[in-house]
Amino acid sequence: MKWIAVNTYEEISEVAANIFSKQIQEKPNSVLGLATGGSPVGMYKELVARHQAGRLSFKDVQTFNLDEYVGLEQASPASYWTFMHENLFNFVDILTENIHLPNGKSEDLAAECVAYDGRIEEAGGIDLQLLGIGVNGHIGFNEPGTPFDATTNIVELTESTRTENAVYFDNLSEVPTHAITMGIQSIMKAKEIVLIAFGEKKLDAIEKLKSGHVTEDFPASQLLNHPNVTIIYGGTN
Ligand code: PGA
Repeated sequence: MKWIAVNTYEEISEVAANIFSKQIQEKPNSVLGLATGGSPVGMYKELVARHQAGRLSFKDVQTFNLDEYVGLEQASPASYWTFMHENLFNFVDILTENIHLPNGKSEDLAAECVAYDGRIEEAGGIDLQLLGIGVNGHIGFNEPGTPFDATTNIVELTESTRTENAVYFDNLSEVPTHAITMGIQSIMKAKEIVLIAFGEKKLDAIEKLKSGHVTEDFPASQLLNHPNVTIIYGGTN
């Protein structure tokens, strides 16, 4: 595991954007695993700027997002589909058919989970996966206690996660109760993983990861068993 300590959110965004740019430049048809949340917004902004400056093309890139809410319309303002379009896809030359998010409106969610892992396999697997980390060590929507061998699955959101995410909705009651998330095993199949964690509130989680103890009570700890992970962390907020 490679650790990169930085001082600011801008530095996290730039270092992460450098890794993603290099990946795309070296392999223009890369398969990227992407994440939502506050952490990656700066990195996406940086990638958009590099695209607009003519330095980066997504025309052969495929993307797979970690997760999506169950039951929201794709175009709902709070969906992860909308988040990704407003932060990245609308501003780069990625092809619509190369964008993949789990379908949280599927009538057969169990089949959608299996199909999503299948679509990743078919694309050749994820070359580079971006992750954030929850204060409780969650990655994607995999909360503490999730088995490490879980593939893409439906999860019931904890009250704390729903409360944390309520800022993206008009009120708490509108936050979906379930989500579809890539499982920890699905995430571990990525050839390379970059995890970004900004600010003091993530420091405990980073320290726990550094302690080297692997346990299902702290989902991110399974990354210690992956051969190619970079953790970019630091900053105060
Ligand atoms: P954040 O969320 O990027 O909004 O901090 C990360 C996470 O909880 O996985």
